[in-house]
Amino acid sequence: MITEENGFFRLTTDNTDYWLGVTKFGHLEHIYYGPRIRGTVSDGIRQDGDKREDGELREYGSQSCVREAEAFRLKRTAVIGSGIAYDPSDELYCLDHMCLEWSGSGCGDYRYPPCELKMPDGSFVQDFVYDGYLIVDGCVKMGTLPGAYMEAGGNRKQPRSLLVTLKDKKMKVYLKLIYTVFEETNVITRRVVLVNGEKEKLSVRQLASMMLDIPGRNYRVMTLEGGWAKEAHLHSYELDGGMHVNASSTGSSSNRRNPAYMLAEEGADQNAGYVYGFNLIYSGNHMSFTEVSAQGIVRTGIGISPHCFEWELGTEDSFETPEAVLTFSAEGFNGMSRNFHDFVRENVVRGAWKRKSRPVLFNNWEAHFFNFNEKKLLQLAKESKRLGAELFVLDDGWFGARNSDKAGLGDYSVNRRKLPGGLSGLADKLGKLGLQFGLWFEPEMVNEDSELYRAHPEYVVRIPGRQAVQGRNQYVLDLCRREVQNYIVEQVSAILDGNKISYVKWDMNRHIAENYSPVLSNQGEFYHRYIMGLYSVLGRIFGPRPHILVESCSSGGNRFDLGMLCYSQQIWASDDTDPVERLKIQEGLSYFYPLSSMGAHVSLTPHQQTLRQTPLSTRFHAAAFGCLGFELELKYLTSKEKEEIRGEIVFYKANRRLFQYGDFSRITLPKDNKVLWQCMDREKEKAVSGFFQTMSRAVEGYDYLPVPGLEADTVYRIQTVEQYLYIKRFGALMKHVLPVELNPDGMILRTANRHYTLKDCVETYMADGQMLAHGVLLSNQFMGSYYNEHTRMLGDFGSQLYVTEKAGSGDKTEAENRTKAGNKAKKENLIRTENQIEAGAGHKTGKREERQDGKRREEK
Ligand code: DGJ
Repeated sequence: MITEENGFFRLTTDNTDYWLGVTKFGHLEHIYYGPRIRGTVSDGIRQDGDKREDGELREYGSQSCVREAEAFRLKRTAVIGSGIAYDPSDELYCLDHMCLEWSGSGCGDYRYPPCELKMPDGSFVQDFVYDGYLIVDGCVKMGTLPGAYMEAGGNRKQPRSLLVTLKDKKMKVYLKLIYTVFEETNVITRRVVLVNGEKEKLSVRQLASMMLDIPGRNYRVMTLEGGWAKEAHLHSYELDGGMHVNASSTGSSSNRRNPAYMLAEEGADQNAGYVYGFNLIYSGNHMSFTEVSAQGIVRTGIGISPHCFEWELGTEDSFETPEAVLTFSAEGFNGMSRNFHDFVRENVVRGAWKRKSRPVLFNNWEAHFFNFNEKKLLQLAKESKRLGAELFVLDDGWFGARNSDKAGLGDYSVNRRKLPGGLSGLADKLGKLGLQFGLWFEPEMVNEDSELYRAHPEYVVRIPGRQAVQGRNQYVLDLCRREVQNYIVEQVSAILDGNKISYVKWDMNRHIAENYSPVLSNQGEFYHRYIMGLYSVLGRIFGPRPHILVESCSSGGNRFDLGMLCYSQQIWASDDTDPVERLKIQEGLSYFYPLSSMGAHVSLTPHQQTLRQTPLSTRFHAAAFGCLGFELELKYLTSKEKEEIRGEIVFYKANRRLFQYGDFSRITLPKDNKVLWQCMDREKEKAVSGFFQTMSRAVEGYDYLPVPGLEADTVYRIQTVEQYLYIKRFGALMKHVLPVELNPDGMILRTANRHYTLKDCVETYMADGQMLAHGVLLSNQFMGSYYNEHTRMLGDFGSQLYVTEKAGSGDKTEAENRTKAGNKAKKENLIRTENQIEAGAGHKTGKREERQDGKRREEK
């Protein structure tokens, strides 16, 4: 909802309010952004207005002003030293000390500005003042970039947009501030269009998509930072004066610093406290800045990075910025994330796959790298189908001379030595197996050793007269050039149309350097034109083929952003498939991006990226909180492991709507070696919780499992999802549970490991939603007192899934019986343990001695 009253604008979503108004000198003042104000807002007339001595109150229009606005706005009742009075008539009116919606430059506001413009008069001074407004239904269509949207005809409230035009006081230079209000997702998007109405050129050196000034409340800036294989780790910075910058300069949104960030009030936690979230629908160099003024006003803004940026506007030319996304929640980080998740799913992601469940895929990359042929692929595919795969993805290496990362990129001719029947032959065979076919591309790149490079060395981004640099042995193709864009569109389209391809992995594996294109007269446009070229290519390829599920990727999560999500429904989160690392990566991403957008795979252990050994169950549990895939050589797995995977896929398929589209929450536990994630359906009938332990600790004590968000008075049944414990994991400890002692590396135990597993603890409880929110106390973890079926054997990197469902009739008695049986077994175990302790100097020694004396039989 958007309302206007005499220059006062109110943008209202289901749970938030955003207010701005025109001051008496025409500046746009930010008044309020926070929880929705439920009272009557627009009925109050500001009482003191007409009493001012100068008699010309013009703020928020001229006559009726809004009472609450006066309460919320930052006061100007004292002169602050060093301030520059904007106008001699009012010494209290100092731009530096105000909350503004936009600030120019050179008029007394010395905080970091949202723009740097070399004006047509050659100065760097602008003073943008109110010129008019328009409120329209729907989103305002973007001309050059992808933006948020809303499908017509759905059951959601359609967005409305407010366009406020500002004009420089001296020159015919206009700035349109565009606000779009998405009520149900509590999101307001903002962007800017700059128009040069003068005869002389205007040079844009920086133009943010939005700027926001809010009175500080001890906010922290929280960002997602990292690098290859460790993307999106959450970082938190105290805002204690000075300025915080979150930016990328690699040509993409980058694995170093994701564009998304938050301002969280001190003490905010997952479920309570003020949290503002920001993101940008853009995939190139970005920058956000957050500055605290000496008076404690927080200024933040986000947009294209000014790094190497310059754009010239001739007469009547305009420049549009990417769209910034803003949300607010008083319900902590989870509240903010829910807003973003809903918004991304509804208003960013497009195409036929928008709300569809993602298929379980098997990707051949970690299984084969470049070393495969059709036989190997089909072997893997057949086996993956047996385990439950729906989609088989052929990764890098299927074309040209691509037998390593040194050659072939840029070429699209199928490598017939590897695939004698071509892609269509493979697709047909996969089809017969009942598998859909997915294919990897890296269209933005070229190897020097490729047909494309030999034919068109000029397609490469490089600077004439300088040695071109390579990354992963490849050059970047110049997407500023129309002929390069056409080449990619034609080649990729032909492959997609000539073969039954239902999924594309769109990869991009290096940062851009030597930002230069001979087709540009102004090299300051390079990075932005590259991204516009990329969007044009993606739109031309996938716009007419909406049936294709697109997963974008850039050496993992080097381009995990809302711009790419306008073209690809999901993004490969990281090349790091170690679940312990994924806990950090996926959790970081989950602050801003829904699980339906995150590619997450199970791979072999020890992990390629960390050499860490992790249980198969944990690899699955982490990947299940995302779009599940597998990339591993199945022939190295035991029959038990395959059986486990088969069961996991069955479970995932039965619950994938919950995992991919449920309400996701991060739940903080008192111990810092635990991670708890939860997905719950909208109807509050079912939830699945993932309880992860990173490094185990000796004698762990008790663990809580809270399941918040359910209906308080409804009775639910919570149960552990059964999982396997592999004998191999326990090594020589096995002698404590076997009647005989066997060599842990001997044939018998190795064979047994392939075919038998131990049972892990399964717990079932009945409780109402209120009790579950408080938390179930789980059975003990292993505490050095041997294994039994009622002990949670987590150890390092162990995890368990729990399903909570509305109880049916019959549930209560069953649960009671189970609990009784469980208590009996626990009691017996306790007695056993006490006996063991009594038997010797520590129960372990006692037990071992007994066995060594009596039943020891070494395996030969
Ligand atoms: C980088 C990606 O992130 C990997 O998943 C894989 O597709 C390789 N590229 C292939 O070169």
